[in-house]
Amino acid sequence: SRVVKLAVIPGDGIGPEVIAEAEKVLDAATAGSGIRLEKTRFALGAGRFLETGDTLTDADLDAIKDHDAVLLGAVGGVPGDPRLKDANIERGLLLKLRFELDHYVNLRPSKLFEGAPGPLAEPGDIDFVVVREGTEGPYVGNGGSIRRGTPQEVANETSVNTAFGVERVVRYAFDLAERRRRKLTLVHKTNVLVNAGGLWQRIVNEVAAEHPEVAVDYLHVDAATIFLVTNPSRFDVIVTDNLFGDILTDLAGAVTGGIGLAASGNINPDGAFPSMFEPVHGSAPDIAGQQKADPTAAILSVALLLDHLGLRDESDAVTRAVEADIADRGAASRPTAQIGDAIVARLRA
Ligand code: NAD
Ligand code: IPM
Ligand code: MN
Repeated sequence: SRVVKLAVIPGDGIGPEVIAEAEKVLDAATAGSGIRLEKTRFALGAGRFLETGDTLTDADLDAIKDHDAVLLGAVGGVPGDPRLKDANIERGLLLKLRFELDHYVNLRPSKLFEGAPGPLAEPGDIDFVVVREGTEGPYVGNGGSIRRGTPQEVANETSVNTAFGVERVVRYAFDLAERRRRKLTLVHKTNVLVNAGGLWQRIVNEVAAEHPEVAVDYLHVDAATIFLVTNPSRFDVIVTDNLFGDILTDLAGAVTGGIGLAASGNINPDGAFPSMFEPVHGSAPDIAGQQKADPTAAILSVALLLDHLGLRDESDAVTRAVEADIADRGAASRPTAQIGDAIVARLRA
């Protein structure tokens, strides 16, 4: 039997609640398939930091690297908690994992499932994927602040865009478009961010020449938010930078039935490091510990994980079970564990 070594990081807030359901589904999907899952749990997050002062030690990182994939719930405390230094968990843990494991593709699919409760009156067929660059942009932490606490304070964050980093994610997006409906939209803000925007546009143009079958267009990010609401079915593959991709994918989640359904993969396509799968949402401190969280995003992240591992049948089975559950969910909200149990029951049926 094939052994799959999986690192599990439940995290904070609703993270452990949704990961419990995701693990139930993962276990059910791989039962009897010849896959032997070897899981290692890592207690990382704001909780661990408050207890021990550690965010992600070198030993944690080395141990995580020694796995085939990572499943993460959500990390982060209550925004503004004075005991948590700003961006400590986000930067020191989540982004550190994405950067160290070279997750240069942050894959965020958006599909409006039949029966999902979207806010749009006439949504049309929504089925697109945001390919969000995952290792650069304003997230790299290249900035600084001087004269803090004075009226002359200067605060800078630099958006880092390298030709290497942009080209590799753009190539991934074109390859994905070739396997989908052959439409690719670059989203940026080239009318203002001329340096970074110019680089992205130029590289998209160059790679487009190698993909004559792919229809390419461009939207400024502000206009893209309009179309995500007024005409979301116009999109197939969206390629964009780290920050724009973050913002667009929360919006995309809201448009396709809620952030509780939005899954993602942080992919290292080269396979040099384990890829990491997690819901798009955060730790939701406002509903944590109450079994109110929708675990569907975490469960669909398991489907992405299985697909990434080459387990197509298992991945499809999870997606089908989720689709069926969404189709007859109705408006009634169920406790987190009941949703997981219902999806497991469909998998076993
Ligand atoms: P959030 O995504 O945690 O919550 C935003 C809103 O969506 C809240 O009202 C929440 O209740 C709701 N929500 C989120 N997930 C849900 C689910 N599965 N089911 C039902 N409702 C859900 O965003 P936030 O409040 O901005 O951030 C909270 C913390 O999470 C912060 O510390 C932030 O930095 C962190 N965060 C972590 C990740 C991650 O680990 N990948 C992602 C985003 C935010
Ligand atoms: C996400 C989150 C993270 C991001 C934060 C918590 C660093 O919002 O995964 O979408 O901005 O990427
Ligand atoms: Mn986000």
